[in-house]
Amino acid sequence: MITIRVDDRDIEVEEGTNLLEACLINDIYIPNLCYLEGMEEPSGSCRMCFVEIAGQDHPVPSCLVTVSRGMAVRTDTSPVRRLQRSALQLLLSAHLVDCAHCPANKKCALQDIARFLKVGLKPKHLEPVLKEETTQEHPYLLHHPNRCILCGKCIHVCKRAHGRPYLTFAKRGFDTFVSFYGEENAEELPCQKGFLCVEICPVAALTLKEPGAADTTESQ
Ligand code: FES
Repeated sequence: MITIRVDDRDIEVEEGTNLLEACLINDIYIPNLCYLEGMEEPSGSCRMCFVEIAGQDHPVPSCLVTVSRGMAVRTDTSPVRRLQRSALQLLLSAHLVDCAHCPANKKCALQDIARFLKVGLKPKHLEPVLKEETTQEHPYLLHHPNRCILCGKCIHVCKRAHGRPYLTFAKRGFDTFVSFYGEENAEELPCQKGFLCVEICPVAALTLKEPGAADTTESQ
């Protein structure tokens, strides 16, 4: 074990631990959207988990940092909060904010982080930019591109459970979306029971075509 200092508190963490995870397991909250516990290669794509580390010129995403002995970290400085608020507002500007009709309402990661950062869900200075609502064929799932925040958790849990992901990112930039690979054949899919991708999605961007038709409680 090694000691690191986070916001004037010394915490004991295992050497080699991811900094974001080290903070979270010590009840030091850092907003995050794309990291999952035990992830070996975090993507660092949501740009939410910034912290300042003594000796470094700029805030860095904590999910991309491995702890080291004597590290001194601040999670709550003005530059950190500025970056987190900007990242959140950008996400919200490309998100269909229609909480009253969303199954994630009241358990949505965006709502939680917005509350924590004191950011309104409808950023005033950014024009909303929504995608064209397209439908993809899938025997069980629906994807809602304007709810999706492209965190990649669905792809990650699918790959972890099945050895290969049955979902993938398609296209680039603003047009990026989570694609089903055109899977239409239910027999070829390993996920008839326990849709981990639906369970892990923090914003209800993946939903079941027929809620309750599949058993989502059984893990794979
Ligand atoms: Fe670190 Fe998304 S949790 S960048």
